[in-house]
Amino acid sequence: MIYVKTAEELEKMRVAATLVSKTLGEVAQWAKPGVTTLKLDTIAREFILDNGGRPSCLGYQGFPGTLCIEVNETVVHGFPSGYVLREGDIVGTDVVADINGFHGDMCYTFPIGEVDEKVRRLLQTTYESLYVGIDAARGGKRVGDISNAIQTYCERRGYSVVREMCGHGIGASMHEDPQVPNYGHRGTGPVLRPGMCIAIEPMINLGSKNVVIEQDGWTCRTRDRKPSAHYEHTVVITPEAPEILTTFEYIEEALPQETLEQIKGKPQEA
Ligand code: MF3
Ligand code: CO
Repeated sequence: MIYVKTAEELEKMRVAATLVSKTLGEVAQWAKPGVTTLKLDTIAREFILDNGGRPSCLGYQGFPGTLCIEVNETVVHGFPSGYVLREGDIVGTDVVADINGFHGDMCYTFPIGEVDEKVRRLLQTTYESLYVGIDAARGGKRVGDISNAIQTYCERRGYSVVREMCGHGIGASMHEDPQVPNYGHRGTGPVLRPGMCIAIEPMINLGSKNVVIEQDGWTCRTRDRKPSAHYEHTVVITPEAPEILTTFEYIEEALPQETLEQIKGKPQEA
């Protein structure tokens, strides 16, 4: 069942989305060489609790973290750990929090120090594909229009799209209908209606699309152990381009210019 949110519910969604956005703004300040992923998790958990929220993933079906930690070949659902981030790594931090009964969900993949050019391009393409997918998410269009936009954008540039994991509706539950795959055909799937809230989250691989789940039952990594990138926003459908409820603004204010340029590219010279 797909929910269309009321104006009051959307107001609560905005509050939850702002909370996760500010949370990753805090995490961004620590996403540096020498820091453990457990430290990032602690920063996120304390920030959410201090601001009246609840970390939605913590304890969810036994998940042990506030953040899902995605180092290099980890696609999604990695555990925070004593792993120390190193120059050249990438780390995705995926966070869900609820406040006043509604959830916000977002993810950002950080380059740690300077990363390889191949990895840098993967980050940039995945980041851009999120906004390409968002732009396709208009009232009256279908879920497959989002899926196809993301898939086409990434595959044209030589990357592959993970099949096993997808975006989703979001609201009073962390995961609601519809599923929002990052691959598919235009004009297929559920119709998008104003007031629907969805999390759009491309998970894009440098090598093949195949993934495996580790022995811990959660950590999803690429089979070929090549890197994977992941960016995510929570959006609300409108008759035009959607309203993006989460924002990367807090993160990007906190990142050094050189770090940001690895993700977004260098500003064009005049
Ligand atoms: N953002 C993740 C998702 O949409 C959140 C997973 S929380 C977990 O799948 F507990 F399942 F890890
Ligand atoms: Co999500």
